[in-house]
Amino acid sequence: MYKKSIDLIAVYPGSFDPPTRGHIDIINRASKIFPRVVVAVTCNYNKKHMFSLEERVSMMKEALFKVNNVKVESFSGLLVNYLDNIKSFCIIRGLRALSDFEYEFQLALMNRKLKEDVETVFLMPDREHTFLSSSMVREIAFLGGNFKNFVPKNIYKKIIKKISKENKSV
Ligand code: COA
Repeated sequence: MYKKSIDLIAVYPGSFDPPTRGHIDIINRASKIFPRVVVAVTCNYNKKHMFSLEERVSMMKEALFKVNNVKVESFSGLLVNYLDNIKSFCIIRGLRALSDFEYEFQLALMNRKLKEDVETVFLMPDREHTFLSSSMVREIAFLGGNFKNFVPKNIYKKIIKKISKENKSV
């Protein structure tokens, strides 16, 4: 059992492919509540990723360089094992709409089943981000639409670069 701690580390896991303004919004909110936040970037084995793990970590680090109680790391394997490694028991997840709830509920309870003392804390992003998702950003970008307002500036440039590289190789 973990004790209450002023050093509590809250972990925000995700594939962040790419990170969006919605993710950054959640991280900023978490950084105001928790003494330390770790953004834990990983691979979702059910998804084909556009950016490599290293690229996603680097984009997230650049986007968050101003937030001083937030660290960006990567992990592989089970989230609960990663929590153990960094001595955390607290997971942050964003809830954008009611449609997120069922999946998030299942994930939270499964993580608790895997490790009894794990707690999941849900935060809501600003209303303007509730419709955002990484795959929508990727799709709009691939189809030449305007996605500038959905991602931080540095990430916008990386997506444009990635797409033009992929178009050249086709
Ligand atoms: N703003 C914008 N978009 C958001 C968002 C927010 N605040 N919160 C979530 N999203 C989007 C994501 O971008 C993602 O979009 P996409 O499906 O288009 O890529 C979508 O909502 C789903 O996000 P999420 O549920 O966070 O999926 P994920 O793949 O990023 O993360 C893991 C899921 C990685 C946390 C989960 O698979 C995991 O824990 N994996 C580790 C292995 C493990 O322990 N498995 C057992 C779990 S019980």
